[in-house]
Amino acid sequence: MSKKICVLPGDGIGPEIMAEAVRVLQALDLGFEMETALLGGAAVDATSNPYPEATQKLVQAADAILLGAVGGPQWDSLPREQRPERGLLGIRKQLGLFANLRPAILYPELANASSLKPEVVAGLDILIVRELTGDIYFGQPRGIEVREIDGQKQRFGFNTMHYSESEIRRILRVAFEAARKRNKKLCSVDKMNVLETTQLWRDIANELAPEYPDVELTHMLVDNAAMQLVRNPRQFDVMVTGNMFGDILSDEAAMLTGSIGMLPSASLDAKHKGLYEPSHGSAPDIAGKGVANPLATILSVAMMLRYTFALEEAAVKVENAVKKVLAQGYRTGDIHEPGTTRVGTRQMGDAVLAAL
Ligand code: IPM
Ligand code: MG
Repeated sequence: MSKKICVLPGDGIGPEIMAEAVRVLQALDLGFEMETALLGGAAVDATSNPYPEATQKLVQAADAILLGAVGGPQWDSLPREQRPERGLLGIRKQLGLFANLRPAILYPELANASSLKPEVVAGLDILIVRELTGDIYFGQPRGIEVREIDGQKQRFGFNTMHYSESEIRRILRVAFEAARKRNKKLCSVDKMNVLETTQLWRDIANELAPEYPDVELTHMLVDNAAMQLVRNPRQFDVMVTGNMFGDILSDEAAMLTGSIGMLPSASLDAKHKGLYEPSHGSAPDIAGKGVANPLATILSVAMMLRYTFALEEAAVKVENAVKKVLAQGYRTGDIHEPGTTRVGTRQMGDAVLAAL
């Protein structure tokens, strides 16, 4: 098996947290080949393209991609094609990474980090399965144009929400399979009371359900799902939804844990090639200070070992090392509480290496 990993540190805290994840990967000594490339704002600065040719080549040749984070205020006013986010969307689309897995897990040691009452979130363990290459994110036509409306020339903004049957079916299958390996509850989230696209989504979920008799399928409208996530999040096991709703709900679910700095994610194609990245952003406000939490990126390494390389034992080893450093009381600033030991990015990496 070839084991090529493309490492994309990205922007903001990306390079700092990635350095620790790479050290963990090297310590496991699994014979991976790693190559680093530019993506996002760093790539815009160097080449004026957020997803340069050289990066595209490496990414396509790799079995897995590890990404830090992209974006920052200095690139926000650039034309849309040059924004760092374009790089990320470009990789997702080009590689067909349609299945985005975003776990939201509350570690018992971090129960106080949540803004919700501990009794509401204790033991929380949700997996959000978000479709990642379709929906209004990529739908054509799109744009901002001048049109004549009500007898007046004015600017007109438009995007298109669409899903084909096959796009919906493949992401639902990923979600059903994931539910099967967990608590066998799948909640499909849509807005069928208003949007036809999501009526189709619900119909297809119902059509597939008989193939997964061991999984209990329920449906929920997205506004209600947003409310239920803060009212009683533990009712959920696996949630599956489209690109746009998934973007929003996965941030909400991540924040339930109070520690977005702890949450990894995976974006997979049909053959287990994947891009792995922390769920948090590039945190420009703390970039370069050596205080960012590297654990979400380290846990992304664990997801990569599990999903792309089927190295379950190594994945568990990394996850257990992270649990151990939390039990030992090491905390970066984002999860620090009185009575625990505040450490920086590098020291947290050291602690994980020692715990491996
Ligand atoms: C995410 C991010 C991206 C998205 C942005 C950076 C384009 O918010 O991965 O959730 O909207 O998908
Ligand atoms: Mg998002």
